[in-house]
Amino acid sequence: MSREIEEIKAKLDIADIIGGYLRLTPAGVNFKANCPFHNEKTPSFMVNKSKQLWRCFGCNEGGDIFEFVMKIENLDFAEALKMLAQKAGVQLSRSEPGMDSQKNRLFSLCNLSARYWHQVLLKSSQAETARNYLQTRGLSSDAIDDFCIGYSMDSWDDLINFLRKKGFTDNEIFLAGLSVKKERGNGFYDRFRGRIMFPIYDLSGRIVGFGGRTMKADELAKYINTSQTAIYNKSLILYGLNFAKDQIKKQDACILVEGYMDVIPSHQAGVKNVVSISGTALTIEQIKILKRYSNNLLLSLDMDTAGQMAASRSIDLALENEMNVKVITLAFGKDPGECIKNNPQDWTEAIGKAQNVMDYFLTKIMSEYDMNTQDGRKLIVKFLLEKINKMANPLDKDFWLKKLAQKISVSENSLRELMSRLSPERKSSFGTYKKEKPALVVKNSNREVSLIKRILELSLAYPLLLSKAVSAIEIDYFEDELAGGVYKKLVLFYTKNSNLISGSTVDNSQFDLFDGLKQWFDEAESDKSQLDLVSGAFFSSQNVLAEENEKSASAEMAGIIRLLKDEYLKRRIEFLKIELQKAEREAPERVENIYHDLQDLISRRRD
Ligand code: CTP
Ligand code: MN
Repeated sequence: MSREIEEIKAKLDIADIIGGYLRLTPAGVNFKANCPFHNEKTPSFMVNKSKQLWRCFGCNEGGDIFEFVMKIENLDFAEALKMLAQKAGVQLSRSEPGMDSQKNRLFSLCNLSARYWHQVLLKSSQAETARNYLQTRGLSSDAIDDFCIGYSMDSWDDLINFLRKKGFTDNEIFLAGLSVKKERGNGFYDRFRGRIMFPIYDLSGRIVGFGGRTMKADELAKYINTSQTAIYNKSLILYGLNFAKDQIKKQDACILVEGYMDVIPSHQAGVKNVVSISGTALTIEQIKILKRYSNNLLLSLDMDTAGQMAASRSIDLALENEMNVKVITLAFGKDPGECIKNNPQDWTEAIGKAQNVMDYFLTKIMSEYDMNTQDGRKLIVKFLLEKINKMANPLDKDFWLKKLAQKISVSENSLRELMSRLSPERKSSFGTYKKEKPALVVKNSNREVSLIKRILELSLAYPLLLSKAVSAIEIDYFEDELAGGVYKKLVLFYTKNSNLISGSTVDNSQFDLFDGLKQWFDEAESDKSQLDLVSGAFFSSQNVLAEENEKSASAEMAGIIRLLKDEYLKRRIEFLKIELQKAEREAPERVENIYHDLQDLISRRRD
């Protein structure tokens, strides 16, 4: 194993690998970059080519290529090893434990499905309409191949049957987001039916999910997308970034568009530094990723009615994080896709003429409101000042205040005065961004019930966390009858079924766990409040999957365990202190024992 690790390190160059994620600039014999792991304006992240190591002098993180890839891709060692071995062309002799982890099974599932749908699109007689449709949209066959666009048969089980034959279980197919559970009865059906399929890629080019477009004008949902899965987190993915990142670095600019059908035509037109937010607003996580490659953002977003909210939230967030934002105005068409189909050159010209976002707003708002009325003037000033107020850099603020003052002939001082009256902007700069921990802020009264519910939610989302909870939480930690009752049954269930959960089978899905749990609680003659709690937790466990990855969920579980333990120890200590006083008066022979127990509890509270 260590020989293989050395071989991988010898074959790969650290500057190439890290350069795939960051804009590296030469610094003597080394390279430097803005650190991707903390927020900074001047680079303190160094890559040392001769030692093949990296280190950030700002946040003190550092290591070799493995540590970098693990950290930036959020992988465990086995996953990083597999990925880098592939890059280096090194054959791994024996598969490591965890190598065929559930995540890897899901990657294989998505990859296989994409290839399958692509073949269907190219060859099947039933895909005739789809092929014609893509032709009328102007997509070249190269683009169709490059993005691995496909077609899903208009069938309830075509994909499921194909994947079963390849050795995947119904649960795995479901967990990959490719099927939907039947409402009545058992079993699943294909999520994507009769749709043009766009694979969604992660940063390293692995397929993690899909968007499926209908060709029918009367269909309710134009697109259906993979819901959150263990490998697909919508708020982290920017569609097309794996294809675009090199060009974004090279041109030091990123073009942000609305959808799949804007990214792909843009590539076809030769503009490759383009990514899409897939119809939602830009998230802080996405900004963090983009800033690794470039600080310059060009937007071609729907700025009218429906898209306006998302666009303006995206712009605000980008400004708050000190990106330079420009706006592209199209001469033709409602989106880049249409513009390009009409005339690809219009697209490149529009990009060349992109306007600074503040200039854009200035022109736009002055055309919408009348500067010559008092109300109009107030609205214009308020709107623009709010934007300026969001800028994190004081130099930018200064510049735009001056410019605005000139433009509307008001003194700079009165603008400053007005701006100081605006409420200070909550900075969302990612350095200080923290997630709320819902379980830990609930009120004392039914806190234990909330905590046991949260334990269930986290475990149902990430079954391995159940063993973590059961092995650390003693039944006595719960005082509340409902919470304690549920936990007792949970422990019994776990002891009987730990094989289901321990990760030794590939079937350790939420479904097995929930079905098993529900049956267990049914058979153990639970009262309604217990059953409600378990079912409620199952539904909200979907949110856990959407909001947390395994690592953050595990950290939350650890927090809950600590809290329960600490509360319990506190209670025991208080109780024993009273016992001690009683014993001193009434039963001196017991004092030593009680004192001993008390010491024990106090030291347990400390570790
Ligand atoms: N989207 C979605 N669900 C919808 C509509 C849109 O998820 N019901 C997402 C898709 O990622 C889509 C993006 O929002 O690519 C932009 O939407 P839109 O501009 O309507 O789609 P286009 O990609 O432009 O596709 P087309 O031109 O074929 O309509
Ligand atoms: Mn479109």
